[in-house]
Amino acid sequence: MLGPPGAGKGTQAKIVAEKFSLAHISTGDIFRYNIKNDTELGKQVKAIVNSGGLVPDELTVALVKDRLQKEDCVNGAVLDGFPRTTAQADALAELLADLGSSIAIVPYVKVRDEEVVERLSGRRTDKRTGKIYHLKYNPPPHDADLEHRKDDQEETILERLEEYHTKTAPLIAYYQEKGLLAEINGEEQIDLVSANLLRAVEAAAS
Ligand code: AP5
Repeated sequence: MLGPPGAGKGTQAKIVAEKFSLAHISTGDIFRYNIKNDTELGKQVKAIVNSGGLVPDELTVALVKDRLQKEDCVNGAVLDGFPRTTAQADALAELLADLGSSIAIVPYVKVRDEEVVERLSGRRTDKRTGKIYHLKYNPPPHDADLEHRKDDQEETILERLEEYHTKTAPLIAYYQEKGLLAEINGEEQIDLVSANLLRAVEAAAS
């Protein structure tokens, strides 16, 4: 899943993973889990993630390599937030070739920068279930135990957008050239985005 911060990659990746019985691998979730639990990896990446920068490629690729070899990936996986640089994309191609696998589709969820800021400042996540909500667009239930991500402050959001435009957006052309890109309008309502996305994934898988 390719797209700017707040495009809805996490929201949609969970839906695709469930529908097609795939593992959901979010590098951002893995980093946040490690930061929360104060692991060695967490200590290494905390300052970078909280300030909106990108974790070094080598570290991120090693983590995904390990994760892709876990048993729940046997049917395949939805990669959410990875790759994020051309070096990561090259490493992924090599890694998948070694595993005898390949990329079926690269959904690019397109959303304008103004919308990103609005979405991320209203985002809340349920600590217990990991479900993603928005105070206005996707209101949480009353009993949810909500948290506001540290990197969802306006200054950090702008930093993440800058990182996205300089380092990740070149992957749009990268995957377009390989005939793998499927552009999805991320500014429709969540259900409509899902319907368009699931249709594209189904077509790519058949
Ligand atoms: P990561 O967790 O991947 O963050 P991100 O890419 O910035 O994406 P987000 O999780 O913020 O947004 P999303 O697109 O998943 O949107 P969501 O579904 O939540 O990465 C965090 C950090 O980890 C990075 O900054 C970096 O430091 C590090 N990192 C991670 N991967 C890395 C890598 N590969 N290399 C190096 N560093 C890495 O939706 C957002 C909000 O909008 C929610 O409130 C949701 O309810 C709402 N919403 C969703 N869809 C809609 C819709 N259609 N209409 C209205 N509202 C909607």
